[in-house]
Amino acid sequence: MLAIQDPFGQLPVPASTFAADIDPLYTFLFATSLFFFGLILAILLYSIVRYRRKHADQPAANNTTHNTALEVVWTLIPTVIVMVVFAWGLVGNMDQQVAPKDAIGYTVRAKKWAWGIIHPGDAKQTPAEMWVPEGKPVRVTMTSEDVLHSFYVPAFRQKRDVVPGVRQILWFEVPEGQGFAGQDFHLFCAEYCGDQHSKMAGTVHVVNQEEFANEPWKGGLPDDPVARGEYWYTKAGCLACHSLDGSRRVGPSYQGIWGREGKLVDGSSYTVDAEYVHESIRKPQAKIVEGYDTAVMTAYDETALSDEDIADIIEWMKTLK
Ligand code: CUA
Repeated sequence: MLAIQDPFGQLPVPASTFAADIDPLYTFLFATSLFFFGLILAILLYSIVRYRRKHADQPAANNTTHNTALEVVWTLIPTVIVMVVFAWGLVGNMDQQVAPKDAIGYTVRAKKWAWGIIHPGDAKQTPAEMWVPEGKPVRVTMTSEDVLHSFYVPAFRQKRDVVPGVRQILWFEVPEGQGFAGQDFHLFCAEYCGDQHSKMAGTVHVVNQEEFANEPWKGGLPDDPVARGEYWYTKAGCLACHSLDGSRRVGPSYQGIWGREGKLVDGSSYTVDAEYVHESIRKPQAKIVEGYDTAVMTAYDETALSDEDIADIIEWMKTLK
């Protein structure tokens, strides 16, 4: 089965029901291209050798400018191939447009440079990690909080742009009983969205349905508030713009941040305390540190980081030297 789907060994594992549509079509396109590449190259090489000019004053053999039969053939054959590809692709594409009624709903929020996943029946975002059950259709509603991003899981054969101001929807189903439960797959951002675009990645964990019922996305947070603060810093996307070593990124470094004093762009002064950190996460543009007037940060609301999460970040910030 798999050998027929992907005889050239080029595709990622087929961890989605769409692989049955996409992989054979891809193989057809690749094999057709390979065949015509070989055929055209062979005719070309043959003609170069057979009809080459053998001495300098050799006249042209003939002056043919048209060959109607040949032109009809080389127009019709590609047209037929393209129509086959169109019809074949349309069937799979229509299937991908509308999620089944019993699909379970996820919300994905994209921002520079992090993915936030809201699992079914939950209100809180899980940063960069998604748990999906096998054998159940999954519908993902996606929004962007700033620029264009693109949700791409190669193993699921699914990719869709996440467009600011638009709700984008995609769906997929991991086939049951084929050994995908327990495996992790890459989630990529496939649309250039700024200088940390390549770091905007995540993990999709496929689990069986019993395990999914235990809501595995809720566990795994460290008990220690300082460790939790560091977890949010790494996973919720703070690290993309705020270094820990004093180096300048999009925003000010967190090195020795707690209690730091300085000037804002409007000339007033600031001190980093709990209130300042809370405001800077909820309303990033309220106080802008001098020298960072062109920096833009997207606000983190309650679903992205709760007040308790911010308290953890503050505990962690106090430890940064
Ligand atoms: Cu987000 Cu690239």
